[in-house]
Parts: sequence; structure tokens; C-alpha cells
Amino acid sequence: MTTLQGKIAIVTGASRGLGAGMALELASQGASVMLTYTSDSSAKLVDDLISQINQLPANPKARGCKVDLSKVRGPGLVIAELDAWLGPEGRIDILVNNAGVEVAKTLEEIDVADYDKVYNLNARGTILLTQALLPRFSAANNRIINIGSVGGRSGFAGLSLYCSSKAALEGLTRCWAAELGGNGTTVNQVNPGPVQTAMLDNIPKDIVDMQKKQTPVQNRVGTVPEIAKVVAWLASPASSWISGQVLSASGGWAMY
Ligand SMILES: NC(=O)c1ccc[n+]([C@@H]2O[C@H](COP(=O)([O-])OP(=O)(O)OC[C@H]3O[C@@H](n4cnc5c(N)ncnc54)[C@H](OP(=O)(O)O)[C@@H]3O)[C@@H](O)[C@H]2O)c1
Repeated sequence: MTTLQGKIAIVTGASRGLGAGMALELASQGASVMLTYTSDSSAKLVDDLISQINQLPANPKARGCKVDLSKVRGPGLVIAELDAWLGPEGRIDILVNNAGVEVAKTLEEIDVADYDKVYNLNARGTILLTQALLPRFSAANNRIINIGSVGGRSGFAGLSLYCSSKAALEGLTRCWAAELGGNGTTVNQVNPGPVQTAMLDNIPKDIVDMQKKQTPVQNRVGTVPEIAKVVAWLASPASSWISGQVLSASGGWAMY
């Protein structure tokens, strides 16, 4: 399937977990992809993923970009890498704001450093990167997909910073959909339920067990490809009439 042939995408947090799966799915459908990551230890993962993408039948290109998106200067580094990759006239069609972190602490325990860690990436990072990339989007029909969480509409003890940052993304998604639709651009959000990645290891086990028990589809957690395919559909021309929406990808655990 080459629905995304000729498209250029940026996926943040694409070194591992959900972001790596999203980048691979977009590339499988023909998109060339910039993969952002932040840890030195993930450089090899990104190199391996680039090699995998380069061998796909659709012949997409891929490029890594090491950047800390929780820093104000992060988006400038993405633009510089984009220039180096595509030239200053290069345009992107798809942005997946996936990079995110969580802190598992109660209200009593959280401090300003925890707030900064979560909000500076999940909320501010998404705002600043999307804003910086606005002039770099194609003339029409672009796709912005924010990755939230079912936690954004739930009350999970010990996860208030994370859940509230994901709720903030929903507000951004709706307002940006209202602002950017004039040229056919859509802005949507995917809220995954639990998926086995490194992040899930830090979520309190009782929350995940409760979610599995209450998940109508097979009482299990989701898989990376199940989320990646939803994102790829939202990135495709087939979703042109969907904007400002938040999709729960949770096997029915959260029904919107
Ligand atoms: N897994 C789940 O169950 C689940 C459920 C609901 C929602 N989500 C959401 O899905 C997204 C991906 O989650 P995941 O489980 O795949 O997470 P993950 O395995 O922990 O991967 C996080 C990714 O974000 C990158 N990242 C972390 N801090 C960054 C920073 N300061 N600047 C730039 N990139 C940074 C990491 O890069 P490095 O590898 O370089 O560190 C990595 O690529 C997150 O937004 C998360 O909230 C996950």
C-alpha cells in the first residue's frame, strides 16, 4: 500500500515504542520520514530503523534528528536538520507529535521540576514545534496528529501531571483544527490505551491491570501496530473530512 507516496513526515519520539511503529507504518505506506529522538543511547535504534525503512518496497527516505523537544531551542534544531535534509525549500506534509514523558507521583509529591519535565515536552514542546514548522508545511492538505492518552479523560491516582498534559493536548488539537483547516489541513489526536512500551513499565501496575480487566476487546493491552495504523489512516487522504477529533484507540476501554 503506497497511500502516502511522495509525502514527507516528521514523527517525534520515533526511536522506540509507539513512535518507531508509527514511523515504520508511514514509511511502509510510502512517506519519507524524519525520526526525532533525544537520548544518545537511542542513536543506534534510529540508525537501525532508518536501514529498515530504506529497504521498504515503497522506497521511502528516512533521516534521524537528535533533539530535546522540552527545550525552547529544540524546534530550531529540527528546522536546521530539515534544511540539511530537504533544503530550505523542502516542505513537510505530516507531523506526528508523539514524544511524551510521564511522572508517576501524587499531588503531594510533585514539584516544579516534575511539572517542567512533563509539561515542557508534552504540552509546550508540542506547541513550539508545531508553530515552528507552520511555514514548512506544504500548501494544502497537511496532517497534524497529536498523541494523547486515554489518561487525558481519566482520573488516575498518581498521574495528574501526565493526564492533565494530555488533556491540554486535546484543547490544542481542537483549536488548531479550527485555525488551520482553510487549506484542507486537518488536526486530530489519537488517545491510546495501554501499549507495551518502556513507558508502560513506569505506569502503576494496578492501573494497567484494571484497564485490561475492563477492556472489551480481549481484555488485553494494545499493540504498537494497532496504534500506528490509526495514525497512518489519519495521515492519509482518506481522512480528509475528519478534523478536531480525538480517537480513543483502546480496545473500547474509553468510549468517546
Ligand atoms: N505506551 C503506552 O501505553 C501509551 C499509552 C497512551 C499514550 N502513550 C503516548 O504515546 C507516546 C509514545 O509513548 P511510548 O510508550 O512509545 O514512549 P517511550 O517508549 O517512552 O518513548 C518515548 C519517545 O519519546 C522520546 N523523548 C523522550 N523525551 C524526549 C524529549 N525531551 N525530547 C524529544 N524526544 C523525547 C524518546 O526518545 P529517546 O529514545 O531518545 O529517549 C522516545 O523516542 C507518548 O506521548 C505517550 O504519552 C503511550
